[in-house]
Amino acid sequence: MSLSVNQTKEGLESPYLPFPGVIERVTRVTEKERLFSIAPLNPSLLEYGPGQFYMVGLPGYGEAPISITSGPGETKEFELCIRAVGNVTNALHRLKRGDFVWLRGPFGTSFPVDEMRSKDVVFIAGGIGVVPMRSLIKTVLKDRQGFGRLTLIYGAKSPEEMLFSEEFDGWRGKGLEVLLTIDKPDTKWTGNVGVVTTLIPKVEVAEGRTIAVVIGPPVMYKFVILSLRDKLIRPEDVFVSLERRMKCGVGKCGHCQINGCYVCQEGPVFRLSDLKDLPEAL
Ligand SMILES: Cc1cc2nc3c(=O)[nH]c(=O)nc-3n(C[C@H](O)[C@H](O)[C@H](O)COP(=O)(O)OP(=O)(O)OC[C@H]3O[C@@H](n4cnc5c(N)ncnc54)[C@H](O)[C@@H]3O)c2cc1C
Ligand code: FES
Repeated sequence: MSLSVNQTKEGLESPYLPFPGVIERVTRVTEKERLFSIAPLNPSLLEYGPGQFYMVGLPGYGEAPISITSGPGETKEFELCIRAVGNVTNALHRLKRGDFVWLRGPFGTSFPVDEMRSKDVVFIAGGIGVVPMRSLIKTVLKDRQGFGRLTLIYGAKSPEEMLFSEEFDGWRGKGLEVLLTIDKPDTKWTGNVGVVTTLIPKVEVAEGRTIAVVIGPPVMYKFVILSLRDKLIRPEDVFVSLERRMKCGVGKCGHCQINGCYVCQEGPVFRLSDLKDLPEAL
């Protein structure tokens, strides 16, 4: 396939036209997830914020929204961690180094890192929710001194399903407390057992100066939010990332709507207090 620079520029000018990226590496993360390092042919595509996503497409298969998992500021490549669940994601899992993917974006809102500065931050991730959280964690750890106490609470179904576990020691070394929990432990697991909410009481919260970030499966949000309320963290200081089915990514098709709000544009990152008039959001 030959790709001209012109094609790349056109892709950037219209949110509907995809631009190419070449796969530099594919790494097995777990049985179901692969980490793709992708070099966009136009490097300006590397300008993204933590929490944003690309529409990732393959001709003949379609497109799927996928969060960026690398930290911002990379100069050549970005990373996507993709779970094979359906048509597009299974086709992406068959790709190898040197193959092309087609990208639109980056789209959506990102986490307000500046607002988190000098505050304590509690990151709460369930399952594949750690994928966009990793981008935020990398952003914050890059300027570790600019933040207060940092804690990650991460829960997975089983130890084999825990993503990025080989990175946790490095994160701990940079000053992030990492608390892990598993729903179904194996014989080797010696850590906490239970849902993520069982670890929230262990976190010391400084009232009024703690921000919480929550990303996980829909069932997680309600219980986590109740626990954060018990910890006296205000809804204004809680940020969530919502997942909805998306087709266009640019506020035209309506697939991602919640009570008239287009998640692809107004989200996926929301401040919890801004969701009070969207009863179907959580
Ligand atoms: C903002 C955002 C970020 C995301 N980030 C990531 C990420 O980083 N990594 C990742 O792996 N995934 C991510 N996802 C999820 C991913 O986009 C979906 O899993 C996507 O549907 C996969 O596309 P597919 O064609 O492979 O699967 P699909 O063919 O869409 O099938 C996926 C599953 O949905 C079911 N399904 C299909 N159509 C419908 C329908 N109309 N209604 C209900 N269920 C249906 C299927 O039966 C199947 O179980 C993200 C989603 C959003 C919105
Ligand atoms: S995905 Fe089309 S409007 Fe949001």
